[in-house]
Amino acid sequence: MVKIAPSILTCDFSDLTGEVKKMEKEKVDMLHLDIMDGHFVPNLSFGPMVVKSLRPKTNLFFDVHLMIENADEFLLPFSQAGADLITVHIESCKDLGNTINKIKSLGKGVGVCLNPDTPIEKIIKFLPELDLVMLMSVFPGFGGQKFICSVLKKIEKLKAIIEKEKLNLDIEVDGGINIKTAAQAVSSGASILVVGSALYQAEDLGETIKYLKNLSY
Ligand code: DX5
Ligand code: ZN
Repeated sequence: MVKIAPSILTCDFSDLTGEVKKMEKEKVDMLHLDIMDGHFVPNLSFGPMVVKSLRPKTNLFFDVHLMIENADEFLLPFSQAGADLITVHIESCKDLGNTINKIKSLGKGVGVCLNPDTPIEKIIKFLPELDLVMLMSVFPGFGGQKFICSVLKKIEKLKAIIEKEKLNLDIEVDGGINIKTAAQAVSSGASILVVGSALYQAEDLGETIKYLKNLSY
């Protein structure tokens, strides 16, 4: 089954607990937390304090997506705040191998994210160390953008490598996912879908989540 990771980036932040509970009720697989620093991406979101205050409110797995320049400095704070898995951007890490090891030594799951214009060749040697590769299907920074279709070829290519090497990791796709693009992403090989605005705009949240979960490869 496809795993659904709602991004709370476009939710009503004045009622964060209520928004998270709404997702929890629909049996989503994890919560996708988008961390932006105004440098690596041209937008600001929230930091470890918000993650820490959400932690006691839900048992959902926290999938933390760091869109920040100095990720190494924030691994410990996000880990202590309650992250279950931390994803860093390959474009912002000076020594990716070292960053991956640091996340592992904190006892957290580890993901690496690639922007739409970063080729998957760059991640290949790190694949055996990872729990997931996140492929951006928009340029990070804002929710509600249009899905960039060229990511589909990258998903297919990555899926083929994972199968050939008999590796066990997820392909997570982030940005512009809706009913239509979700189907394309899953049939290309995605196993986790980050979904933001499409869920908040859905007429029936429960039905939309059910539909997305039942898509198949
Ligand atoms: C983009 C974020 C995404 C995004 C998802 O920078 O990483 O998680 O907000 O939202 P939608 O689904 O609206 O593109
Ligand atoms: Zn994200």
